[in-house]
Amino acid sequence: MKMQAPPGMRDFYPEEMRFQNWLFDAWRRVSRAFAFEEIDGPIFEHLDLYKKKSGEGIVSELFSFQDRGGRELAIRPEMTPTVARMLAARASSLPRPVKWFTIARMCRAEKPQRGRLREFFQWNCETFGEAGPLADAEQIAMLAALLREIGLGPDDVNIRISHRALAASLLQAEGVRPERTALAFQKLDRLEKWDSDADFARDWNAQLGADARAERVLALLRETSEEACLTRCESAGEEGARVAADLRRLREHLDALGAADYCRFDLRIVRGLAYYTGTVFEAHGRAGELRAVAGGGRYDELVELLGGPATPAIGFAMGDCVIAELLRELDRAPRLAESLDVYVIDADEALFPDALRLVADLRRQRLAVGFSYKRAAVSKQFKLAAARGARFAVVVGQELRAAGQAQVKDLTTGEQRSVRVADLRTDARAFAPRPDPKAGP
Ligand code: HAM
Repeated sequence: MKMQAPPGMRDFYPEEMRFQNWLFDAWRRVSRAFAFEEIDGPIFEHLDLYKKKSGEGIVSELFSFQDRGGRELAIRPEMTPTVARMLAARASSLPRPVKWFTIARMCRAEKPQRGRLREFFQWNCETFGEAGPLADAEQIAMLAALLREIGLGPDDVNIRISHRALAASLLQAEGVRPERTALAFQKLDRLEKWDSDADFARDWNAQLGADARAERVLALLRETSEEACLTRCESAGEEGARVAADLRRLREHLDALGAADYCRFDLRIVRGLAYYTGTVFEAHGRAGELRAVAGGGRYDELVELLGGPATPAIGFAMGDCVIAELLRELDRAPRLAESLDVYVIDADEALFPDALRLVADLRRQRLAVGFSYKRAAVSKQFKLAAARGARFAVVVGQELRAAGQAQVKDLTTGEQRSVRVADLRTDARAFAPRPDPKAGP
């Protein structure tokens, strides 16, 4: 009986793994450039961790179970609660700001579809201990830097930014009661899932129509001028003025950090997770109908809720699936073939032990070295070298006996020359420089 991976889960064959590694390398490079440190946590947590503040959406998508001791556990659907829990445990001893990233596997019991799986990886970046808009700007700039790093410009993806307090104050000015704001956010987060505005309006009006009519809310959301929204917010009291001032500074910082070209203001971004308290943002492909490539925001109450001291926090996560779909859709996915630095070929079976010794010496120099398990004609071995993506072939033959030399052939240019085997054994890099690890699409 042939078995397949369960629905929404993936097998990673070498070609898929090459893409994963290419993406993870870019995630790590950008994280380091922004001075974030890598951490990790457990694959499952106490169910309560998610019940506390992730919100209905995520809790209904949990893979949860009881262990033999009767504990209620859940496989992590996102990383933020784990990272906040870890921060809370050591909050007093960590110098601020704390900037951590993770690259980790998540599970959500969602209906599998394009860009949405049950098991996926997330690059998750969190900053703790800085309440001002500079931390928000750095997070958003890091997301923009990643997009640039993998070849996606502002014409391909944009980052839409809003602020929950700003949205709340504008909604309340329309009549939504403060205690109903969370429900209003849930509805707004699902706005684009409705087929038409009329469907959204019917749903909104059934529950929130007594507060504010959907038609007015839709008109409000269509207001794309950041300036107009900020001006309205400024006139909504002290808190409104503070939020507007922060958003203006955020815009200045984004400009200075070189990310402004990706960013635009969009009141429709409220985010589904319940823990957000301030700035919220999402990256969306401009062309497609895919879900968000990445999303995040400020969550200033979560660490305290998990037993730590009051700690401002902001972060975002990018999944591996949507970005892969988008790169494919735009035909920008890198073409990644297997690559070896060197393929050692024996031209004389009697010299195979020497060839094998050379393989070992080259590998000690951290070169990626292949050779054929079967003794075969030289032409066949050259074919194997090409099939494995080798940059150089080293042919060990009679020349070794006669003069201690081997032929080194550059498989890209076809150039061939004799090289002293003793030199190859000690410093082959001169002949086989490693490819640039940044080489991307
Ligand atoms: P999220 O919006 O739930 O936020 O997920 C972030 C990203 O993870 C999404 O934009 C999407 O690319 C990817 N993703 C989520 N679910 C799936 C899925 N079922 N299949 C494939 N990809 C998926 C969070 O997870 C927050 N913890 C982000 C955050 C970090 N907020 C603050 N810090």
